[in-house]
Amino acid sequence: MNDILIQNTTAFFEKSFGSAPEKTVLSPGRINIIGEHIDYNDGYVLPAAIDKVICFAFEKSNSKTSKIIAIDLNEEFEIDLTQEVKLSDVVWTNYIRGVIKQLQDNGFSFEGFNCVFSSNIPVGSGLSSSAALECGMIFGIASLFDLKIEKKDISLLGQKAEHWVGINCGIMDQFSSVHGLENKVIKLDCNTLDFEYHNADFKNYSLILFDSNVKHSLFTSEYNTRRIECEEGLSILKNHFPEIKTFRDASEEQVLNLKDKMSPKVFSRVHFVVKEINRVTKACAALDNGNIELLGELLFETHYGLSQEYEVSCEELDMLVDTSKTDENIIGSRLMGGGFGGCTINLVKKGHENEVKSKFSKLYLDTFGIELKFYDVKISNGTTLL
Ligand code: GLA
Repeated sequence: MNDILIQNTTAFFEKSFGSAPEKTVLSPGRINIIGEHIDYNDGYVLPAAIDKVICFAFEKSNSKTSKIIAIDLNEEFEIDLTQEVKLSDVVWTNYIRGVIKQLQDNGFSFEGFNCVFSSNIPVGSGLSSSAALECGMIFGIASLFDLKIEKKDISLLGQKAEHWVGINCGIMDQFSSVHGLENKVIKLDCNTLDFEYHNADFKNYSLILFDSNVKHSLFTSEYNTRRIECEEGLSILKNHFPEIKTFRDASEEQVLNLKDKMSPKVFSRVHFVVKEINRVTKACAALDNGNIELLGELLFETHYGLSQEYEVSCEELDMLVDTSKTDENIIGSRLMGGGFGGCTINLVKKGHENEVKSKFSKLYLDTFGIELKFYDVKISNGTTLL
């Protein structure tokens, strides 16, 4: 699948700039097995990079100006690197402007470049196409101009670019896009950025994403609000239990004890966070032990929390998960990523994939008049230079 993407991107580059690219970079989207809305709440997450990528072709422009072409959008823009970088009304360009700004602000010196890119990561589906864009761009500029930037710092610069665009995200998406490894999930400690790889062996089950085709219109504002609510909750916990420094030091019992001291919303958010942090540890052990049925139960629990306590689900996602619960061929399902649309991640019994897909597409179309899409997950390598 990616061979065609690479060929098309390279051919478009040659047509646009009259020469072969100097560097070609692939930057993947990500899934997350469990640990949602936990990366900015001191937890662990269990993401992996997938085989859906953005392909970038680069060359030096030998000037102070950079030209960037988005093949899929049929749009392009130029940026003068000697001028202050500002936000634009054309949203996709801001991720690239943000990356350039972060590199400059952090003292990296580089000249103009030409770039063409094209993607097969669905946008707005919770697969982190923006992180792939940021990290692939940084990776490409770094290799073009021989900047020495460690993988961890590529992730952090990408995250800062996303903050500059307006989403106060955690580190999970950028980190997994850069650090992905074929057939491995990454257990990432979002506090220290220590990480370890675990085998992505789901035994008799296939990992399938159901794309609701609902785009997250509320995403940015609600996402940032959740962060503020959690910060408030953490400060209440800290005030009452001085031994608590981060969410991972708090027990569910301590949270329950403070129910009256928090607004109902803040209590629900904090209750979810503390339980979700524990679920990730259990889920990782279940995966290591081959207990995929237990992993599946934990996914259902996470969805309940995301829907009822963290309130980042929507009608369409809830319907998909509720239906999965009653389907004997699905042992786990939950919304994946930031929420308000995008995909559910599902553990489906091997041999029953097609049956499940046709049942769900019909039901979803009948209920919402929307086409449901499916992505078979293939866990793949992180950002690479071809
Ligand atoms: C988005 C953010 C991530 C993370 C997830 C929810 O994808 O970019 O940092 O918070 O939502 O887990």
